[in-house]
Amino acid sequence: METTDARIKIAIQKSGRLTEHSLELLQQCGLKYSRGRDQLIGFGENMPVDFLLVRDDDIPGLVREDVCDLGIVGMNVLEEKRLEFRAAGQDAPFRLIQELDFGHCLLSFAYPENGAIQSLDDIDGQRIATSYPWIVKDFLKRRNVNAEVVEFSGAVEIAPNLGRAELICDLVSTGSTLAANKLTQGETLLESSAALIQTPVEIPASKSEWVNRLLQRISGVQQVRESKYIMMHAPRSALPKISALLPGAEAPTVLPLEGCDDKVAVHVVCRETVFWETLEQLKEAGASSLLVVPVEKMLA
Ligand code: PRP
Ligand code: ZN
Repeated sequence: METTDARIKIAIQKSGRLTEHSLELLQQCGLKYSRGRDQLIGFGENMPVDFLLVRDDDIPGLVREDVCDLGIVGMNVLEEKRLEFRAAGQDAPFRLIQELDFGHCLLSFAYPENGAIQSLDDIDGQRIATSYPWIVKDFLKRRNVNAEVVEFSGAVEIAPNLGRAELICDLVSTGSTLAANKLTQGETLLESSAALIQTPVEIPASKSEWVNRLLQRISGVQQVRESKYIMMHAPRSALPKISALLPGAEAPTVLPLEGCDDKVAVHVVCRETVFWETLEQLKEAGASSLLVVPVEKMLA
């Protein structure tokens, strides 16, 4: 029987912009799970992998303390915690494995519409409401700006209306929160997306095989989302030009075509998005019978 020690624990956001995408990523890695009665733990049924649904701000700490082996969390939270841990004398508190292709947002200043403050030049001596005090203070220090940081754990956007601050610094994704609160987006401090982190402690042998397998699958899922398999016919003489046009491609497979000496079939995996413009350019270069098909799985 498997001991619980041999099970991998992944921390993911309980409810928020990363939750659905994080679960989808684990499913695409082949994980089938059932949720516990309290809904805060998902038990893997076909892999020794469980996940914990927690507040995103708690994820870096859970991974740093090796309570969880892996975590999926926004770079915004990671950077905030990195600065906080560093101030406490704790460096390299978790290993950044890779950034992920979801959860894109910006950490930006925002000012009340038509107010006196419309740029960083106006904020000396003003109060900034934010849930990211470490990032904001670090930014102000580097810019040599003297402003007061007022920490809010949520609903930052209402601080100016409450008279608690003159401006805010918060995450912006669609921009609808700012618009609804009559705030104008200003300078951006940080561009963020989700990221995968790993405990700084060495993974025990009992878990390492599955951790490695999972990391490889996650990386495979990421690559596959953009990747396409392209097939076409082309004059042999056009091959150099065609190769140069293919985005993020490895060496193409060139196959003879029955009954044609001057034409070949070209098959290639492109690891970047293939746009219509690229296909049109390939056609201009002499390619015909172009076919672009999605790649389902990839193992480098
Ligand atoms: C952020 C931010 C805003 C909202 C902006 O909160 O605090 O409320 O998202 O998104 P929008 O531009 O699409 O309107 P988030 O959902 O990340 O919650 P959290 O910071 O409490 O984890
Ligand atoms: Zn949060």
